[in-house]
Amino acid sequence: MRRPPPYPIPSLPVPATPRTGAASSERISPARRQLLALGLSLGSLSLAGGLLTLPGCKESKPEAGSGAQPGGSEAAAEIVIGHFGSLTGNTAHFGQDTDKAVRLAVDQQNAAGGLLGKKIRVVTLDDRGDSAEAANAVSRLIDVEKVVALLGEVSSSLSLAGGRVAQRRKIPMISPSSTNPKVTQVGDYIFRVCFLDPFQGKVMADFARDHLKFERVAILKDVKNDYSIGLADAFRTAFTARGGQIVSEQSFSAGDTDFSAQITTIKATNPQGIYVPGYYAEVGAIARTKQRLGLEVPLMGGDGWDAPDLFKIGGDALDGSFFSNHFAPDAATAKAQTFVTDFKAKYGQEPTGLGALGYDAAIVLFDAIKRAGKTDPEAVRNALAETKSFEAVSGTISINKDRDAEKSAVILAIEGGKAKYRATVAP
Ligand code: PHE
Repeated sequence: MRRPPPYPIPSLPVPATPRTGAASSERISPARRQLLALGLSLGSLSLAGGLLTLPGCKESKPEAGSGAQPGGSEAAAEIVIGHFGSLTGNTAHFGQDTDKAVRLAVDQQNAAGGLLGKKIRVVTLDDRGDSAEAANAVSRLIDVEKVVALLGEVSSSLSLAGGRVAQRRKIPMISPSSTNPKVTQVGDYIFRVCFLDPFQGKVMADFARDHLKFERVAILKDVKNDYSIGLADAFRTAFTARGGQIVSEQSFSAGDTDFSAQITTIKATNPQGIYVPGYYAEVGAIARTKQRLGLEVPLMGGDGWDAPDLFKIGGDALDGSFFSNHFAPDAATAKAQTFVTDFKAKYGQEPTGLGALGYDAAIVLFDAIKRAGKTDPEAVRNALAETKSFEAVSGTISINKDRDAEKSAVILAIEGGKAKYRATVAP
């Protein structure tokens, strides 16, 4: 069941004219048809359009001579930036926390006078955690909303899908938190403000060897998820290079709810821990299964665990487990503390690492637009590439020649249903 995000999202304008391609009646998604059948008003329909992503947003070149003003053209009255993320679905926390932080950054920048003398407006589209929807959302943000730059996605698989569209259209995109190396390899318009998985996998492999003294570890990965596959590879490479042994490697697919077969197989190999590079919903369920089947070893994982729902789903089955992450609210720098305070004041809850990185992606973009002195996409791209020693919430950001950021990771330990800061590991 899709739940609406528990915070208000401004309704989006429904595009006035149908785009080229199939007849517009064929483009109404089942969800939208249902809304129509329920007789919902145009107001709620436009909100739903924003939340559900309009169907059939095939990539199309803006029509020549259409006269539409890109949000970044010097004549535009405001600077429009796009955010695409999973506001609903299995990874709703990723998109929601990121979007809240992006909106906080935009509000603060606007309160301080905006950018280049204009106000910034952010348009967010929900991709529901689906690759095809992510590509559609990026097309629509570029073609219909005329954004000058894009923020998103969290999930590497979705950043790859959306990034290919952004690259083709030469609109700069910053992923706040996608860690798979392939994401920025899509092309020279794609950036990120977080560390990469070869580093993140090594951080946990070293922790398992040096601190936990583990020799035998099993891996349980999501084979439908680029991030999970890549992080499993990184962990395996680093752990075996340090003399450790992977005693079993099992798989699942996003959305699975029954993990008993995999845990039974893993249990028979007698591991000291299980590395689970997945997203929080499945990881929580895996922890429960592990507990139910009496396998009393810790789980280890990565940033994909970072959501309050991890603890709601996994409960005390997670106690004693560890994961690597971008940010620990309980070990924040002064800049990060200010962010945490402001976020709490606006939303009544603590941000996760997603929020910290979403905020950072936005302020890195503002800084680049300021230095470029204009919103021309190529000029913004070039300024982004020159980002050096930028003090951000999640650390200091310098963009390297691969358009990546090299940053420290933190290790968090789960105790009493809470993630607590344990250590910082520099690259
Ligand atoms: N790094 C994950 C990916 O690339 C996404 C993620 C980042 C999830 C941070 C949670 C927190 O898919």
